[in-house]
Amino acid sequence: MRTGRYDYLDEAVGPVLLDSQAIQKRVSELGAEITREYQGKTPHVVGILKGASIFHADLIRAIELSVSIDFMEVESYGNSTQSSGKVRIVKDLDESLQWKDVLLVEDILDTGFTLHYLLEHLQSRGSKSLKAVVLLNKYSRRKIEVPVDYAGFDIPDHFVIGYGLDFEQRYRNLPDIHILKRSAPNS
Ligand code: IMP
Ligand code: MG
Repeated sequence: MRTGRYDYLDEAVGPVLLDSQAIQKRVSELGAEITREYQGKTPHVVGILKGASIFHADLIRAIELSVSIDFMEVESYGNSTQSSGKVRIVKDLDESLQWKDVLLVEDILDTGFTLHYLLEHLQSRGSKSLKAVVLLNKYSRRKIEVPVDYAGFDIPDHFVIGYGLDFEQRYRNLPDIHILKRSAPNS
């Protein structure tokens, strides 16, 4: 793909599913909803690295409350587009969750294994409340039911890249969310 502005993009980058304008609009709406529902509280907004890093950065600026933040890194995929069903903590939280209103921020809910594991795992850490927000929801791929409190977009079953989401650690910096072309050479 040669667009001029993004001429570093390669043949693996397929059509745009959600452009940055649509993403920003939805992130503002989610921020407003969270702002309303956490009135009088200081949400502790935990980003799940690395995929949710960009969404987390935008979302916290759309929340008009005082917030604290932390990050956790989990791995469930290796370098493939298929979930192994196994989740491993690569980096744990820095801060305790004790008495906090914790809001987990995840990029995408696919099979559900990652968020299910995180919610179960963090449940016992003494938070006052524990909720989750995901930007993208691929409902048709769900293998395990997970309660999600806020979701940005329901999307069809495509592997997507951009706005934090990667394929083999690349494409996270694309401003729009694209469909990955699996048949691309050199990918
Ligand atoms: P789950 O455990 O199957 O729900 O998968 C969640 C994790 O898999 C996400 O945090 C992503 O890192 C990754 N993932 C799932 N679908 C996609 C996709 O379409 N693009 C990029 N990463 C994905
Ligand atoms: Mg992820």
